[in-house]
Amino acid sequence: MTLTHEAPVKPPEAEGNLLVVRNLQKYYPITRGFFRRVIGYVRAVDGVSFTIPEGKTLGLVGESGCGKTTTSRLILRAFDPTAGDIFFKDKNLGWVNIPELTSLQMKQIRRNMQMIFQDPYSSLNPRMTLLDIVGEPLAVNGVAQGEELRDRVAELLRVVGLRPEYLSRYPHAFSGGQRQRIGIARALALHPQLVVCDEPVSALDVSIQAQTLNLLQDLQAEFHLTYLFVAHDLSVVEHISDFVAVMYVGKLVEMAETEELFLHPLHPYTEALLASVPKPNPRLRSKRIVLQGEVADPSNPPTGCYFHPRCPYAIDRCKVEAPSLREIQPGHVASCHRAEELHLAGVPE
Ligand SMILES: Nc1ncnc2c1ncn2[C@@H]1O[C@H](COP(=O)(O)OP(=O)(O)OP(=O)(O)O)[C@@H](O)[C@H]1O
Ligand code: SF4
Ligand SMILES: [Mg+2]
Repeated sequence: MTLTHEAPVKPPEAEGNLLVVRNLQKYYPITRGFFRRVIGYVRAVDGVSFTIPEGKTLGLVGESGCGKTTTSRLILRAFDPTAGDIFFKDKNLGWVNIPELTSLQMKQIRRNMQMIFQDPYSSLNPRMTLLDIVGEPLAVNGVAQGEELRDRVAELLRVVGLRPEYLSRYPHAFSGGQRQRIGIARALALHPQLVVCDEPVSALDVSIQAQTLNLLQDLQAEFHLTYLFVAHDLSVVEHISDFVAVMYVGKLVEMAETEELFLHPLHPYTEALLASVPKPNPRLRSKRIVLQGEVADPSNPPTGCYFHPRCPYAIDRCKVEAPSLREIQPGHVASCHRAEELHLAGVPE
């Protein structure tokens, strides 16, 4: 099968990147009455743009309901976007725009984009053995069968730190951390280029979280993987991410290289998220701002800057004029009217 396009599909920022997302939108209609009249929209994802260089990790962070899962599932085309482009540099086909592909084309691309889920308890079929779970993508895609399939699954288990003897066991025999390793082995079975990790450690004990993050980092280096790593907590993405994007009510509000974002945040929401990261020294924490109030409702967001009802720095302009995402420093974008004048607190060096 070949992909035919009238014009070559290539994003403007192709050089060095694996994924280029432009103006991505997902609106869910809100309907009422017998005729299901559309009375509004949930703007789950509202004009999100980012790029991920090959072999790097973008951490996508924000409170519950800000659109992280919707963004990650759109990239894997679990459903169609309302608008926007998702350019992906497939190793066989070159640049493709995911929303434009047919289901047959998507089947081919999906081998190279995999997902690791949040809940290692519900994401594995309890009636399948590890051989079936990890081997399924290989069998379904006709990559291996019989003895060769067994050998490849045993090797995948070894790669994620599980014993190959576990092949014929069922998921219930394993702990949460081990189950997440099984999910990772399955995601890696077809040697994907991009792995979308949606809160992969949120359901795990803190002690197991660090081990799983280290494993993901080792695997990235070994297999030259590119990660989109979703979390609600900045501390989880700090060490694994090369870049961090902060999301609030369907929009990106700040994005920069990880160290830059942690040391010099330019958006008050990022400052507040950083303040809620647990600190070994409680004195440092007490001086910091704590996030107050609820996340805005994406079906009825506030006027002006969506963050203004919770922002300690809000001025009158913030209530009426929506700030645009602007480059404030080279490679560091933020959407705040006051980004240049505020001196926000990052984490201490
Ligand atoms: N199928 C749907 N129909 C209507 N609204 C939806 C649908 N799916 C998600 N939403 C809404 O879109 C918004 C974004 O949801 P999403 O699951 O992407 O957030 P999230 O950042 O992943 O949150 P969490 O941290 O809780 O996982 C939420 O307000 C959610 O209620
Ligand atoms: S634009 Fe105004 S309300 Fe929004 S984050 Fe900046 S200072 Fe706060
Ligand atoms: Mg989510």
